[in-house]
Amino acid sequence: MKRVALAYSGGLDTSVTIRWLTERGYEVVAVAVDVGQQEDFALVRERGMRAGAAEVRVIDAVDRFAGEFLIPAIKANGLYEGRYPMVSSLARPLIAEEVVRVAREIGAGVLAHGCTGKGNDQVRFEVAFGVLAPDLEILAPVRDDGIPREKAVALAEEWGIPIADVATSFSIDENLWGRTAECGPLEDPWAAPPERAFARTAPAQNRPSEPAEVVVGFERGVPVSLDGTARPLPALIREVDALGGRYGFGRVDMIENRRVGIKSRELYEVPGALALITAHRALETLTLERDVAHFKPSVEQRWSELVYDGLWFSPLRAAIDAFVDATQSHVTGEVRLEFSPGTCSVVGRRSEVSLYDEGLATYGEGDAFDHHHAAGFVRLWGMPLRVWSEVQGIGAEASGPGAGSPG
Ligand code: ARG
Repeated sequence: MKRVALAYSGGLDTSVTIRWLTERGYEVVAVAVDVGQQEDFALVRERGMRAGAAEVRVIDAVDRFAGEFLIPAIKANGLYEGRYPMVSSLARPLIAEEVVRVAREIGAGVLAHGCTGKGNDQVRFEVAFGVLAPDLEILAPVRDDGIPREKAVALAEEWGIPIADVATSFSIDENLWGRTAECGPLEDPWAAPPERAFARTAPAQNRPSEPAEVVVGFERGVPVSLDGTARPLPALIREVDALGGRYGFGRVDMIENRRVGIKSRELYEVPGALALITAHRALETLTLERDVAHFKPSVEQRWSELVYDGLWFSPLRAAIDAFVDATQSHVTGEVRLEFSPGTCSVVGRRSEVSLYDEGLATYGEGDAFDHHHAAGFVRLWGMPLRVWSEVQGIGAEASGPGAGSPG
């Protein structure tokens, strides 16, 4: 009997995949990876077994997810297309690693996933599988057998696979970094998202009216404390996420460019991720030297594209991480975040190694800036343009020789 290790979420598509594989004579070991989703893993196990898995392994990878994936994401201010903190993109390479590890343990010759052909997750799984285990076969029945969603729903019912949220018809993915929703009523980009699409962020009528403040402490780019109290990263993220969620902060409704070429309408709930990236950026404004501050965002964008596009296991991603790490040596200090309904604002920041010099910045007493130097600097700064203007520029056009002729 051929053994297969399957990336198992407990959702509709992966449950159908278990049954499809067992009906074709495979022995399925379903690997469910806990990356901080609010999931009842006893139920996940039960679904997997009812669908026909020989075994369902639940792997607690929350600390690894935070330490090895979210820390680099925070340091790189990772946002795809400037808005999406890459909830699913960051989890897939970790899940792929865990699935490969189980496959090696049980001597499986096949790796499988339950992704469709339209999404990015198939790309992320298969590229990662290809890097980590090029010798293993890959099966993707939902995609390659073309099981449409309606049929999958019918099959799940027929087989008694208890899928709790089929009725909502959204496709949901969730972990410590946030929650994603797509499909169903969201497919019309003109239609406002129904309130039932949200789970981690309060609706407008339930948000507290009094603002709340939290101080996030960072060490070398990593959030380490809240209001002065040290916290392990997963707990810290959960706390900020819950606080932001109460204020309804962190809803992202966007049309996004998938790697497979499709534009899609996506809904994200990412209060913790956005608040922490906002705070991290604020501390960088204080502690990064000017050229580094101006250069880093271009690298952040590339990093985000690589991660989104399924290229986590790539030499470029590793090299960019090394660069980003080098920029974080002094990103240490504290940021005051204020939440009010629907928003999160930075209202203060401080650092022992701040490059902000009040003596240089002040317009008041104690000004340490030598204004005489400014006059000479400005003269030299503008000199090339003054020469250009005199010889070829706007002034010459009107009056000088060669007026009107270019170059
Ligand atoms: N569009 C997001 C991404 O590509 C979310 C994908 C969610 N995946 C899912 N199977 N529901 O990262």
